[in-house]
This record gives sequence, C-alpha cells and structure tokens, in this order.
Amino acid sequence: AQATAPRPEPDPLPGLPLSRPEGCPFDPPTELARLRDTEPLRRMRYPDGHLGWLATGHSVIRKIGADRRFSSRYESLHLPVAIPGVTTLPPATLGDLTGIDPPEHTRYRRLLAGNFTVRRMRALTARVEEIAAEHLDAMERQGPDLDLVAAYAHPVPALMICELLGVPEDEREGFRNRAATVSGTSATAEEQYSALTALGEFVRELVPVKRAAPTDDLLSDLTTTDLTDEEVAGLGSFLLAAGLDTTANMIALGAFALLNHPEQAAALRSDPGIADQAVEELLRYLSIGHTGVRAALEDVEVDGTLIKAGETVTLSVQAANRDPARFTDPDTLDLSRTATGHLAFGHGIHQCLGQQLARVELRVALPALFTRFPSLRLAVPPEEVPLRDDMNLYGAHRLPVTWDPTEG
Ligand code: HEM
Repeated sequence: AQATAPRPEPDPLPGLPLSRPEGCPFDPPTELARLRDTEPLRRMRYPDGHLGWLATGHSVIRKIGADRRFSSRYESLHLPVAIPGVTTLPPATLGDLTGIDPPEHTRYRRLLAGNFTVRRMRALTARVEEIAAEHLDAMERQGPDLDLVAAYAHPVPALMICELLGVPEDEREGFRNRAATVSGTSATAEEQYSALTALGEFVRELVPVKRAAPTDDLLSDLTTTDLTDEEVAGLGSFLLAAGLDTTANMIALGAFALLNHPEQAAALRSDPGIADQAVEELLRYLSIGHTGVRAALEDVEVDGTLIKAGETVTLSVQAANRDPARFTDPDTLDLSRTATGHLAFGHGIHQCLGQQLARVELRVALPALFTRFPSLRLAVPPEEVPLRDDMNLYGAHRLPVTWDPTEG
C-alpha cells in the first residue's frame, strides 16, 4: 500500500507582526487577527533563527498558560522581538517572579500573596482616592495644557507603590523622581540605568530599617518571614518594576482611549458606578502587555499540534483579547459589557499578583479624572500622541491634554 506523504508544513511566519493598522492606535496588527481566525497556533521564525510558535487564539493561550509543562525561565526562552545586543536573556534576578518556575516560584509567590490581603487593598483604596485628588488639584492649579503622563498617570501609581512598600514620607519625592527617570523618554539609557540602580539600592537600604522598626506595610511584613534581607529587597524591587509602568500606561492609554470615544467617556462620567466593568473592558481592549512567552519543557500536544521540548511559544495576549470566539463584537470598546475572562493579567501560575491593586488604582484614577474635568480633551491631533510602539509594554510616552479653564 502506498504510504500517505506527511502534509508539508507551510513556511513559518517570518516574525511577530508588529505594525498596528494606520490611524488605529488601539487595534492589534491586522495580521494577528487574520492568523487568530485561521491558524491560532502557527509556526514562527524568531529573530535568532529559532523555529518556534505564535499563539493568537484565546482558548489556546489559556491552555498553554495553565500548562505546567511550559516554563517561564528567562534562560529557556527565545525572544520574539530582538533586543539590540542581547542574544539570550540572563536568568531572573533575585525576586523576579516572572522568570522562574516552581518550586522556587511557589515559595515566593505564597509569601507575597499573603501580603495582598483584602484589608491592605481596602486601606490602599482610601489612599489612592486622596493621592488622585491631590494630583487633580495640582493639575487645576497648573492650568490647562499639560502632559497627563507626567502630571497624573505616572505619579499616582508611583506613590501607591510607596504606600504598598512603606517608603517613608520624606523619601517619596526622591523615589518618585527616580521612578520618573526610569520610565521617561527624556533621560539617556545611562541615566535610566543609574536611576534604576539607585531605586534598587534604596529598597535594599530600607529593608533593615523595616526589620528593626516594622510599620504597617509589605516590606515590614516580609521581614517577619524566613526570607533573607536580600530576598526581601529583591521582591520589593520587582514589585516596583512590575507595578509602576504597567498601571501608569493603563491610566494614560485608558484616558487616551476614552478621549477618542467620547460617548464612552460620557457613560463613565454620568455613572461612575460602572467603573469596575469599565476598567475590565479597558484592560481587555488595550492589552498593554501584548505578549507573553513560554518554552516547552517536554513534548506537548496542544489542540492536535505537537510542540517539541525546547520550543518557544509567544502568546499574543492582544490577539486573544479581541477573539470573536470569546468576546462579541471584540473590536468595539463598550464599557457596558462584561469583559471578564480577558487575559490582560496573564493566565496560570504567573497571573498578575498585583491585579487587585491595579484595579483599585484604575477604578479610582480614571473616573476621578473625567468627572473633575468634564471638558478634558487632547491638546494635539490624536495621530500626534507619541505611542510606545517600540516597547514591550504599550502605552503613551506623553498625553498632551487641555480643558476649559473655568473647570476644575
Ligand atoms: C505579573 C500585567 C499591575 C505585580 C503580571 C503578568 C501580567 C501583568 C500580564 C504576567 C506575566 C507573565 O505571565 O509572565 C499587569 C498589568 C497591570 C499590572 C496590565 C496594570 C494595569 C501590577 C501591580 C503589581 C503587579 C500594580 C504590584 C504592585 C505583578 C507581579 C507579577 C505580575 C508580582 C508576577 C507574578 C508571577 O510571576 O507569579 N502582571 N500587572 N502588577 N504582576 Fe502585574
């Protein structure tokens, strides 16, 4: 009998599609949508030559995210987008949860999770209301025509990280300035690196202070566990990195999206009670962390496709969050929908540990901004807003806004 020849594999994708459609700053690259609807798990060539995969469907990404046979260890991953001068990622630094696997990951994750308690989140909600109001007052004093990223989107989450970690009042200004240098666009790479090193150093120096005289905050609580000072400092620095730019970009891009969809902004203004679902929908629609990466630890079959041990899979969260198989009319921003099930915080054991804090911040910061300045609008045409196309985390570098000076 004649053996059937194996079906030839189509040519791999030459790389991760990155260009968003012209004039649609919130939509994922069109090519990603086409792939998701035809080949949700597709062969892809990586910039270093590796032959791996690209996953774009909501269901397949959930399966891979939840499957322990896939590793997150940085040193096992191939990068879907080349970083100049970097061929392979170095192993995760102490305290960086996203780049390690169980059992190491489990121990740190448990210790940290015990710190994101309902009581602590409630206390932080009260603080974010005050911090947001103080910054809106300052915006009003400064007057219309300013950069919303520098005036609001960045400082509010930076101060919330100070609250969470327990940074003393008189050190916060220095902390916030250094954090702004790390995330900003005006500093050189060296200035950013030295500000980041200074922040790490700052957290390291704070740990023995908290151990000697604990206060009601996360760093103090971590010093009561069996973690060493170095481990507490590592976890603190990682939280700072994980919780700042993410939330800042969600506030900035969320505000930009609402300004571009005035009927949605009006809905939020007229009923701040929809804030919870509005935030879920913005997280889904914007998907600022557009990709996750995993590598197979052994041969794994997913939906009938064999992923071989050692192969990297890129998980396109932005494609999954617009999957019509999961969300009706996925490309429409609709604050009245229930967007639960989105993957903006990831899926599986690495799912965002700070998601309750992020939600607390967004649920307060966005409605407060739009109700305080009902005439808030862009001060430049939308196509002139500088976007973070080139970054791992999408968002706006600056968001020039204005409002009627009689308001505030
Ligand atoms: C992990 C998104 C805010 C702490 C993650 C992951 C995503 C994410 C997608 C999973 C990464 C992976 O699977 O490899 C976001 C977004 C945020 C946000 C979109 C804001 C809107 C925060 C905040 C904190 C935080 C405020 C804490 C202060 C963490 C931590 C992890 C994590 C500790 C690692 C969890 C682990 O590996 O077990 N985040 N995050 N995040 N996030 Fe967030």
